[in-house]
Amino acid sequence: MRGWEHTIAVDDAGREPVFLQIARALVEDVRRGRLRPGDLLPSSRALAATLRVHRNTVLAAYQELYAEGWITMEKARGTFVSRELPEPRPRHFAPSPRSVMPARAGFELGAATVQVPYRPPPRGTLLLAGGLPDVRLAPALELARAYRRALATGSSGRALLDYGDPQGHVRLRSALAAMLSATRGLAADASSLLVTRGSQMALYLIARALFQPGDVVAIEALGYRPAWEAFRQAGARLVPLPVDAAGLDVDALAQLVGRERVRAVYVTPHHHYPTTATLAPGRRLRLLELARAARLAVIEDDYDHEFHYDGRPILPLAAADEAGVVIYLGTLSKILAPGLRIGYVVAPRPVIERLTAHRAIVDRQGDQAVECAVASLLEDGVVQRHARRVRRVYQGRRDALAEALDAQLGGVVRFDRPMGGIALWAHAPGVDVDGWAARCLEAGVVFHTAKRFAFDGRARPYLRLGFATSNEVELREAVRRLRSRL
Ligand SMILES: Cc1ncc(COP(=O)(O)O)c(C=O)c1O
Repeated sequence: MRGWEHTIAVDDAGREPVFLQIARALVEDVRRGRLRPGDLLPSSRALAATLRVHRNTVLAAYQELYAEGWITMEKARGTFVSRELPEPRPRHFAPSPRSVMPARAGFELGAATVQVPYRPPPRGTLLLAGGLPDVRLAPALELARAYRRALATGSSGRALLDYGDPQGHVRLRSALAAMLSATRGLAADASSLLVTRGSQMALYLIARALFQPGDVVAIEALGYRPAWEAFRQAGARLVPLPVDAAGLDVDALAQLVGRERVRAVYVTPHHHYPTTATLAPGRRLRLLELARAARLAVIEDDYDHEFHYDGRPILPLAAADEAGVVIYLGTLSKILAPGLRIGYVVAPRPVIERLTAHRAIVDRQGDQAVECAVASLLEDGVVQRHARRVRRVYQGRRDALAEALDAQLGGVVRFDRPMGGIALWAHAPGVDVDGWAARCLEAGVVFHTAKRFAFDGRARPYLRLGFATSNEVELREAVRRLRSRL
């Protein structure tokens, strides 16, 4: 071959396999014009001898180059640089005025039907909003390893890239069911559990699969708006019920049931959202009995079950449900990370089958590799250990927030330290809390006020302060800013 001298520097200890190093070096020579289309390359034996590598390594490099279209291999003649080279560099498209997206839809868009805007707060904002966990504590390395293991395990790993069961990977369903029966007293098994992308999807599926337009659904008058929006999408008529320090007013539900046919009630009994109140034992029994007698579904959203600090955790309503009225929702958003998008529903099998059929037409199935990775973290006890660790951390943060509030805003806000959950509900009598929240946002702190959670949208002098997202130093700084903007 004419005049080509290789410039290949093989690095045995390099991160890239040697055959790829050789292939890349040859491509580089083509790009720089040191090798031109049609040039003959050395035989694999000759190049191997020059580079002092095994001939199979050069053959593998040539195979790779052939597969990518850089070389041709002609029997008895030799190996040549392709006359038709693949795109040497990705082509850069100059923006064309005609490819600009039209600013408006060219058809009738109709009225917007969903009212939950999501705008991430500016970077660096201290978050006292809602009840978000601290993803800085998430077991990301364990998760990454488990994901790699799941995908890289022979044919079963590759099968995770295929279409799969819309109900969720059976391994995750089994692991979740085992966890729920061990820690929450649920009579769950893999067939009575559906894995969803977060409990939000579960709420939407329940609405679509079970509600007809006009169905009455009772909700907590201060509550979780994204659930209401999902129910509204299915045409449900929402009826708010009062909530007090003992949770949902079940007498009010009984009166409603006495007046009209109620299809379902949506509750957060463990830690009422947003006030954190726990549904009193008498009310729990009454609610189940009422649901059984009136044949209405109880949608139990147990979004932060793992976080209970003082005393014993309370078992879900579902643990005491013998009549099959409870549809139980849980999520890994708080205990692992919201970005994983893993939630689940536990309910009698016919309900799960209905929901699964609806899931399949929205999203086909979940991410099976992630589902298997999370299953292995449950099987190996990683999630349980993580839960114990963050429970202690969050308890410390709860106390730090409470102490900072007492010290800095003692005369302004009143609250009880919540026994569980990852947020605190505070009363600020006489304060325009919405104006205060707006000023705090400018000062780089976000918190939410009662108005956001109120079905009637009216302002009330209450605020919800999440304590899990920020560490103790950040919490003290956040409270300092709160005080400065009062
Ligand atoms: C009441 C309630 N339900 C459910 C969720 C969890 O949503 P997801 O599982 O979709 O992340 C949250 C999270 O903020 C919540 O506050």
